[in-house]
Amino acid sequence: MYNEKLRPQFHFTAKEGWLNDPNGLVYYDGQYHLFFQHNPFGTGWGNMTWGHAVSTDLLHWEQQSNALEPDSMGVMFSGSAVVDWNNTAGVQVGNHKTLVALYTAEGSYVDPKQPSTQCLAYSTDAGQNWIKYAHNPVINEITPGNRDPKVFRWVSPENKEEYWVMALYVNENSNHTVQFFRSDNLTEWEFLSKVDGFFECPDCFPLAVDNDQNNIKWVLFGANYRYVTGDFNGREFILESGLHCGDFGPNFYAAQTYSDIPESDNRRIIVGWMQGGNYPDMPFNQQMTFPCELTLRKTANGIRMYKYPVKEIETLRIKTHNSTNNLNGDLFDIEAEIEPGNSTEFGFDFSGYKISYVVGDQILFSGKNSAPLALENGAVKLRILIDRASVEIFANGGIIAISSCFIPNMAASKMSFYSFGGDIKLRSFNIHELKSTWEK
Ligand code: FRU
Repeated sequence: MYNEKLRPQFHFTAKEGWLNDPNGLVYYDGQYHLFFQHNPFGTGWGNMTWGHAVSTDLLHWEQQSNALEPDSMGVMFSGSAVVDWNNTAGVQVGNHKTLVALYTAEGSYVDPKQPSTQCLAYSTDAGQNWIKYAHNPVINEITPGNRDPKVFRWVSPENKEEYWVMALYVNENSNHTVQFFRSDNLTEWEFLSKVDGFFECPDCFPLAVDNDQNNIKWVLFGANYRYVTGDFNGREFILESGLHCGDFGPNFYAAQTYSDIPESDNRRIIVGWMQGGNYPDMPFNQQMTFPCELTLRKTANGIRMYKYPVKEIETLRIKTHNSTNNLNGDLFDIEAEIEPGNSTEFGFDFSGYKISYVVGDQILFSGKNSAPLALENGAVKLRILIDRASVEIFANGGIIAISSCFIPNMAASKMSFYSFGGDIKLRSFNIHELKSTWEK
């Protein structure tokens, strides 16, 4: 178990069965919770259940018993979770703060069919056991298929007024919208406003531009991870940018950020579903992306969001090489800063999977996928995570990302680095071999 041929070794997978969206990402009392869309009964999508795993370091996950199972109201579609610090829902028992999850009961998959509603479940024992609220739903169907509530705490910067806000995907006359609602107690919700143009799994949060607490911008994205920046004033999202592509790969979908990361840490951490990819003959299907930190930075083209692997990954490094000679294993974390010199193309070949930079066109390729990538200070900076069955690239600090699944050619697990047409200059070049997170 956990060492199968195509089992990712530092990305989360379900022990067995199908997985899709990350759900209910919340940190509480030393534990990162990762709930996930799960089919416990097969490797295809179905029987939507909230699977559950916990970790203390975002690397080593322990799968728990399932948190939410289908009921007569529907199957358990995606949603989010928060810590109810002030017991606003009034269900706290003992000293543990209540963890509250908002999820969609999708009624079209149960017999008799039911509407698509937003429901609440809570845990009074730090996330081990989950109780569905007796008076569900907390939001009735607006239109069929409305789903994926993401809840966050809004604190007014002016007068410190606080309440809960939910971002919800609602299909209105074939218009994909995100609708915002507010609540004081997580059970009664009032409509605030809507924004057009975002499909499924919205997320919305503030970030300090270049870490400047006096320059807060809000980010909004849907499942395809095209994001906008702007302002959320407690009622509505005011767009200040067009859509930016947050990931150019084919396998980054339905991502969600963690709630309740302690202020002393203060990172905005994102996990997505590596939608797609094949895992023939495996007991599981699909994997999560590696957890990344999001930051907003000013660039010559305006404000952009950067995505970069969380620093915890460094603890998995077992050996560092400065060339592709004598590499061992199939798990790597590569950091390279390369001046193209007079080369026309350079890159890595990993058992037939190519990561390359075409200098003239300024395009970065990962297999068949590509992204525009300008030189920065005369060089290209690459960070590449290679696991069994996935390659994640973060270029120039993470302004460009490409997440891809692949089937490694185990028979020829070999990496080489090449350049065509001239010499390149390596400003830095480190290939770290990683150990498996499943190793005890
Ligand atoms: C996104 C999604 C969500 C839905 C869930 C069902 O991948 O379609 O909108 O809640 O998956 O599994």
